[in-house]
Amino acid sequence: MGTYADEINKRRTFAIISHPDAGKTTLTEKFLLYGGAINLAGSVKGKATARHAVSDWMQIEKERGISVTSSVLQFTYDGFCINILDTPGHQDFSEDTYRTLMAADSAVMVIDASKGVEAQTRKLFKVCVMRHIPIFTFINKMDRDANDTFELLDDIEKELGIATCPINWPIGSGKNFKGVYERAGKCVITYADTEKGTKEGHATRIPIGETETLTSQIGEDFLASLTDEIELLDGASADYDLEKIQAGDLTPVFFGSALTNFGVEIFLQHFLKMTTTPLPRRADIGLIDPVEHDFSAFVFKIQANMNKAHRDRIAFMRICSGRFDVNEEVRHVQGGRVMRLSQPQQIMADERKILSEAYAGDIIGVFDPGIFSIGDTVCMPGEQFVYEGIPTFAPEHFARVRQVDTMKRKQFVKGIMQIAQEGAIQIFQEFNTGMEEIIVGVVGVLQFDVLKYRLENEYNVEIKLENLPYEYIRWIENKDIDLDKLTGTSDMKKIKDLKDNPLLLFVNQWSIGMTLERNEGLILSEFGRT
Ligand code: G4P
Repeated sequence: MGTYADEINKRRTFAIISHPDAGKTTLTEKFLLYGGAINLAGSVKGKATARHAVSDWMQIEKERGISVTSSVLQFTYDGFCINILDTPGHQDFSEDTYRTLMAADSAVMVIDASKGVEAQTRKLFKVCVMRHIPIFTFINKMDRDANDTFELLDDIEKELGIATCPINWPIGSGKNFKGVYERAGKCVITYADTEKGTKEGHATRIPIGETETLTSQIGEDFLASLTDEIELLDGASADYDLEKIQAGDLTPVFFGSALTNFGVEIFLQHFLKMTTTPLPRRADIGLIDPVEHDFSAFVFKIQANMNKAHRDRIAFMRICSGRFDVNEEVRHVQGGRVMRLSQPQQIMADERKILSEAYAGDIIGVFDPGIFSIGDTVCMPGEQFVYEGIPTFAPEHFARVRQVDTMKRKQFVKGIMQIAQEGAIQIFQEFNTGMEEIIVGVVGVLQFDVLKYRLENEYNVEIKLENLPYEYIRWIENKDIDLDKLTGTSDMKKIKDLKDNPLLLFVNQWSIGMTLERNEGLILSEFGRT
């Protein structure tokens, strides 16, 4: 029975998601600033230094100036202990980005006010919805010309299918950005372009009834349109409902400017009130309560070769219940052994701190001698249960892999299997053959380069990739299906995964529809099971 309720209940663990360039990094920096984690925003994650490439082998990262890694940031604010799961923010994001969301209890979605909902936000959002985790929206860059506010909200509702509830409302944008109206407090918070990196400076609150002061501060025209908009908003938008927010059915919306540090602390304060303490998680023995249950965790990410000389791997675990103590033994359930977790650490940007204890809600990285797989459960030695698996996310790019030197078969299979175990790629086979023909599926095309690079550099195996035209993969949910009798479109391909589960590859959505139509009762899923 755990007794660490206070420590656990002050934890808040969230992922921050956005389309590249919406301002995720800038907003994260400002959060850290409020948490006192750094003195000057930008010193942790300035563009040049802190796309925090932690590994040597990731030459690709350096060449292209992007990061395929993600990290965890921890800071305290107002009595809360906050864990931010940062996700890689570039076009070629990988499955890891999705998996990170599996370890979070809520998500902060950053949207560029001049762009609205963008492609990558949509994908990540789907995963949040699948998990029913609360989603908080920060509409950023209000200091630049923004889209119409009602249109922005409409966009979120239509594109993402979630109701919105603005907590504050912007007054103007760009050069004419005057501040925000806080609906609950019925007051205007005036915009002050505080210097980058300093705390929110001179923002003042003016009650909406103080017409004279407001007119002098924001101008007659803006006040008039604000009054109209508030009226419209009160009539049209969804009511604030914490239950709906916590069930992921309603997203509170905030407006601000991360760069000039306006609206960030307001967001943080509201967010912390609305978001949840570490959530219980489903295991085969039922829901595991974070406070009542002793230590348990699951692996959601494996990062290979953080240090090439040692070929080391780090397994990232989300602690789901109780307290982790470095001196105690734990059971790695899937591995069937009791062990001590080696070199447990907190990974902050490119810094690593060795830990002696951590609590439910925290993320720890442990040295992995090659025994952990994504989704594995770790619990106390006297227990034996497994957390519900992390789904396999549908890759969108496929290629046939061929070895250049067929004599190196063994290294090739070993290398590709290991890389797949880390979750960077997925491996499939032709339906009727074995490992002779390997098809690789990835979420972002960069992973193809990573695979090629790593096989050459770590396993001394050269490969050729032949791109395949498929973009959609579907797992077949029906257990008793006769695959030979399944009739699809001519461009459909039957394959299987390493556990012999049958899958279908399609070139377009239309083929999926046709196949469903031609095979009554067929159930196809976008997510696989580990
Ligand atoms: P990301 O992590 O979501 O990819 O975005 P990031 O924070 O790196 O921001 C992308 C660009 O947008 C950066 O400019 C950043 O300064 C700018 N930005 C972020 N928030 C705001 C905001 O509230 N207002 C305005 N006007 N700009 C914002 P950059 O020129 O690409 O990089 P940098 O040279 O400024 O670092």
